[in-house]
Amino acid sequence: MTAGTAGAPRRGARGAARKRSTLAAAAAAAFVAVAASGGALVLAGPAAAATTLRAEAEADGRYFGVAVGQGDLGNGTATNVAGTQFDMVTPENEMKWDTIEPSNGSYNFGPGDAIVNFATSHNERVRGHNLVWHSQLPGWVTSLPLSQVKAAMEAHITTEVSHYKGKIYAWDVVNEPFNDDGSFRQDVFYNAFGGGAAYIADALRTAHAADPNAKLYINDYNIEGSGAKSDAMYNLAQTLLQQGAPLNGIGFESHFIVGQVPSSLASNMQRFTALGLDVAVTELDDRMQTPASSANLQQQATDDANIVKVCLANAHCPGVTQWNISDADSWVPGTFSGWGAATMFDGNYQPKAAYNAVLAALAGGSVPPPSTPPPTTSSPPTSPPPTSPSATASTPASGTCQVSDAINAWNNGLTANITVTNNSGTAINGWSLAFTLPSGQSLVSAWNATITPASGAVTATNLGYNASIPAGGTVSFGFQVSHTGNTSAPASFTLNGTACTSG
Ligand code: G3I
Repeated sequence: MTAGTAGAPRRGARGAARKRSTLAAAAAAAFVAVAASGGALVLAGPAAAATTLRAEAEADGRYFGVAVGQGDLGNGTATNVAGTQFDMVTPENEMKWDTIEPSNGSYNFGPGDAIVNFATSHNERVRGHNLVWHSQLPGWVTSLPLSQVKAAMEAHITTEVSHYKGKIYAWDVVNEPFNDDGSFRQDVFYNAFGGGAAYIADALRTAHAADPNAKLYINDYNIEGSGAKSDAMYNLAQTLLQQGAPLNGIGFESHFIVGQVPSSLASNMQRFTALGLDVAVTELDDRMQTPASSANLQQQATDDANIVKVCLANAHCPGVTQWNISDADSWVPGTFSGWGAATMFDGNYQPKAAYNAVLAALAGGSVPPPSTPPPTTSSPPTSPPPTSPSATASTPASGTCQVSDAINAWNNGLTANITVTNNSGTAINGWSLAFTLPSGQSLVSAWNATITPASGAVTATNLGYNASIPAGGTVSFGFQVSHTGNTSAPASFTLNGTACTSG
C-alpha cells in the first residue's frame, strides 16, 4: 500500500456478466500442487500466480482482507498465505487501546507498525482496528474520573490516527457500541458523554481531523441481519449523518455459524448503503462443531460464497475480510469450546471447499463499485426495503404439525434450529408459527423466517421462498437469542393457529 492511496478500491474491469468458471478448478489444482519448501508455502503451477482471492476481488474492484496478528508474522506458512491471497490486512489486536496506550500518555506503536510493514511489503492496504472499544481497554481508562475521559479519548484517537496517517484505508473508530438488544453499551465513553451517540460523533470528528482521507467506520456483530441490534445501528447511522458526523461505513463483523447466515443479509446491507454509507464485511468466519463434518464444510462453502455474492451485488460493499488466516490461527476454538474450522484454510493452511466456492463467486462478477466514494455527509433517511409478501395461508387441520428443535447454547447466547413437519395431508401455502421464548431470552437474529417481537410470545413467518410446505414435507428456520442463564427450548408451538406436537 502506498501512502495516499488508502481511498476507494481499485476499479476493476470485470462486468456483471463475466464468468470464469474454470478459475476455481485451476486454483484448486494449483493448491494441490502446493509444496513445502524451507518452512514456506510454495504455490506451483501456472494458475498459482494468476488466481488468488485478492486477484479475483481486485478484478471486481473490491478487496479481500485478512486479520493478521503479531504471532502470525513469525510463521512462514501463515505469512505466505496472508501475503499472497489477500490485499487488505486488519491487525488482530495490535492497534487496540491496551497495546497502543497501555498507560496514560505512553504509546507503543511497535506491534502495529510491524503489521503495517508486513502489509506494505506485500502491497496490501490496512484496516485500522480499533480506536474506541469497551474491551481490551486498559484499567487506567476505566479508572479515570468521568470528567477526564473525553480528553483521554480524544488524545488517544488523535495520537494513534496521526501516527498512521496516510497508511490506513479505513478505521474502525468505534467498535461494538451496542448490546444485543439494541441498547447502547454503557461503557466509560458512553457514560462520560452523558449517554446517546455523543461519544461516537466526537470520536468520528476527532479521527477525521487527524486523517481526513481515512474512511471512518462503526463496527459490530449481530447486525448483519435484520433485528433489534441492526435497527439500533441503522438509527445511529441516520442520526450521525443528519448531524454531519464524518461517518463513511458500517462494519458487519459476520462471525457466523454454518447454515445460519441471516436471510436478510442482502436487504439489510442495502438499507445501510442506501444511506450513502459503505458496508464492509469486516471479520468473516463461519464456525462449526469440531471435528468438522464434510456436510458442514460444504455448508460453509455455500455460506461463504453467498456472503461474497451479497457483497458483490452491492456497489457500496468495498470488500470482505476474513478473521484470522487459517483454522490454526482462529480465535474461535479459544472462545467457543468444541467449535472451530471457521476459516477458508484448514489447520495446515490448505484451502478448503469454502476457498474454492469463494473464488468461484468472485469470478462470477459483480455490480461495479462506484468510481467516486459515496457521500460522507447527511442524506435523507430512506425507508427499509419492503419485505416480500407471504403467500396466502391455508389453515391445516387440528393436530397436523410436528415441531422439533436443536439447541446450541453458550454462556450468554444460544441458537435454535426449528423444523416443522406438515402432517396434514395437504400442502400449506403460507405459514405462521407462534411459540414462546423462555424468560430472559431476547432475539438477536433469525434465518429462513421473520420473527417478531423479540421476546415472550413470538411469531415466525415464512419468507417468500419457503412459504409452501408440501404434504408430508418440512420447513426449517432458526434464530439466535441472548440469555441470562435460562437456556430452555422454545415451547407451545401453533402453526397457523393449530397446536403442534413436539419431538
Ligand atoms: O497478550 C496477552 C498475553 O500477554 C497473555 O499471556 C495471554 C493469556 O491469555 O493473553 C494475551 O491477550 C490475549 C489477546 O487476544 C492477544 O492474544 C487475550 O487474552 C485474548 O482475550 C485476546 O483475544 C482477542 C479478542 O478479540 C479480545 O476480545 C482475539 O485475539 C481477537 O481475535 C478478537 O478479535 C475480536 C475483534 O477485535 C472484535 N470483534 C470480535 C473479534 C473476535 O472476538
